[in-house]
Amino acid sequence: MSLILGIETSCDETGIALVEDGRRVIAETLLSQVDIHRVFGGVVPEIASRKHIEVIYQLTRDTLAQAGLDMASGRQQIDAVAATRGPGLMGSLLVGMGFARSLTWAWRKPFVPVHHIEGHLYAAFLGERVPQFPFLALIVSGGHTQLVYCPEPLRYELLGTTRDDAVGECFDKVARLLGLPYPGGPSIQKVAQTGNPDACHFPRAMRDSDTLDFSYSGLKTAVLYMLRDHPDLPVPDVAASFQRAAVDMLLERTEQAIARTGCERLVVAGGVAANALLRESVQQLGVEVYLPAFRWCLDNGAMIACAAHYRLQAGCADHTLSASADPSLDLICSGQAG
Ligand SMILES: Nc1ncnc2c1ncn2[C@@H]1O[C@H](COP(=O)(O)OP(=O)(O)OP(=O)(O)O)[C@@H](O)[C@H]1O
Ligand SMILES: [Mg+2]
Repeated sequence: MSLILGIETSCDETGIALVEDGRRVIAETLLSQVDIHRVFGGVVPEIASRKHIEVIYQLTRDTLAQAGLDMASGRQQIDAVAATRGPGLMGSLLVGMGFARSLTWAWRKPFVPVHHIEGHLYAAFLGERVPQFPFLALIVSGGHTQLVYCPEPLRYELLGTTRDDAVGECFDKVARLLGLPYPGGPSIQKVAQTGNPDACHFPRAMRDSDTLDFSYSGLKTAVLYMLRDHPDLPVPDVAASFQRAAVDMLLERTEQAIARTGCERLVVAGGVAANALLRESVQQLGVEVYLPAFRWCLDNGAMIACAAHYRLQAGCADHTLSASADPSLDLICSGQAG
């Protein structure tokens, strides 16, 4: 049995969790700073890192307390401490890495640095149905839109990525254009419920190309021009049409990737995997689909502890505490190397 404390601080969520055997979440706490950053229309890095510093110790104590532990008994019971190494905001990453490394030093336990996107992917392993390798992963978040082939634990082959904006970023930018609050994804999904997805025609980028790459900046610009030329269009109609186009583009590329790789299993992960239309639509792709539970789609500590379980099994702990935070850490290179 392994009990791992996972710490996520790459952006504006402080997430701490205790996960047993990479499957069962024993305790977790999450503090989102979204209300603090909303007035700025996006995350302010300096504010984010300061807030992580303020709360990380107490959240860790609260998480341990949920499991009936304190710092002293945690030292006995917990096998390893993991933290997000990158990508993300440098200041925020440093808070989580520094805190986690201090704990592992004091507890004399292994430290496991984890790639943030690897964490998102392993969120699909929390729960009853665990995906078997190989599988295809569609990673859709605020900073990433990628199709990745995963032949075995901790090995990643990039099949396609965005050439410009990430899909979550596109949701956030379009929400701004529509005057909807940050973060844009949930706001757009909410107003789109009453809108007509056929009201506006938006282009599906690179439809006839045989690349597995994505492009979302054209869609954002198309919404901008639509609003400029038709200012009276109801916001729910524009939101619903945009959401349909954004999801269609993901589905088309994923369908192509399934055909090319012959993969029979698909993992969908990252913040945009919380989108109800996407969750429903991927079920029609004719493969076994694995989606993280809604609460583990966005940044959280459980996904980091889960990924760390597989890293530990592969012998990828940082015993010398020499791994440094890396704001642009690459998933493919991070693989087995840690
Ligand atoms: N229901 C939803 N529909 C569409 N998008 C959503 C939904 N919920 C959240 N999102 C989007 O998910 C993104 C946040 O996801 P996540 O927290 O994984 O991103 P991040 O951590 O900032 O970036 P990354 O994981 O790439 O480093 C935001 O862009 C947000 O708008
Ligand atoms: Mg994320």
